[in-house]
Amino acid sequence: MQVWDPVVRLLHWALAGLVFFDLVYDDGGYRHRIVGYAAAVVVLLRLSWATIKRSHSLKPSIVETRVYLRQLIAGKPPRSKGHDPLGLWMVWLLWVLVLLLGITGWMSRLDMFWGDERVEGMHTFLANMLMASVAVHVLAVCAMSLIWKENLPSAMITGRKRDHS
Ligand code: HEM
Ligand code: HEM
Repeated sequence: MQVWDPVVRLLHWALAGLVFFDLVYDDGGYRHRIVGYAAAVVVLLRLSWATIKRSHSLKPSIVETRVYLRQLIAGKPPRSKGHDPLGLWMVWLLWVLVLLLGITGWMSRLDMFWGDERVEGMHTFLANMLMASVAVHVLAVCAMSLIWKENLPSAMITGRKRDHS
């Protein structure tokens, strides 16, 4: 069955590529800044797409997350068609971090904050948080792929997951 439409898939891999680029080429130079802004634009496009096409709910729920965590601890997390309730928090964390990096990166270039170490420190801190979050995200994707015996990265490429549970 189709779970991720082409726009979601395209924006996911675009975001992953842009974020990866900026984490590696972190000199704050022209390329870094353009790529960083592009990553923020990709997040905004994804959020706009979610308001146009409401295929999966992107609203995190504490109640559902609690239930899901209990099932996960018991070793029986139910398979999800879209994002699982826990994964949805991570999705938002990744989006918010990219947007905040765009804002602090922009701020660090303003005359007002020129040479202000607090803004640079914030940008560095957010970048470190993003790096750690991406690592957790990829590990969680691999873990859930093993638990559900379903290749989730491939679903993010083809858009399809198997019908039966
Ligand atoms: C996904 C978005 C971004 C990521 C992951 C990212 C990541 C990073 C990292 C890891 C550093 C090195 C920090 C250090 O060595 O202390 C850095 C520095 C820098 N970034 Fe970004 N960045 C992003 C977006 C932007 C944007 C949009 C701008 C826009 C102007 C920007 C401007 C800078 C500047 C000027 C520096 C060097 C000064 C500093 O350390 O603050 N970045 N960035
Ligand atoms: C810098 C790197 C990455 C970032 C910033 C990132 C970010 C995201 C975001 C924001 C989503 C939510 C997608 C949406 O609803 O639009 C997502 C989902 C997903 N990502 Fe990544 N991602 C990265 C790397 C990867 C890599 C390397 C893989 C493959 C191993 C991967 C596999 C997936 C999968 C399978 C999903 C769907 C998860 C689910 O089934 O709930 N991502 N990612």
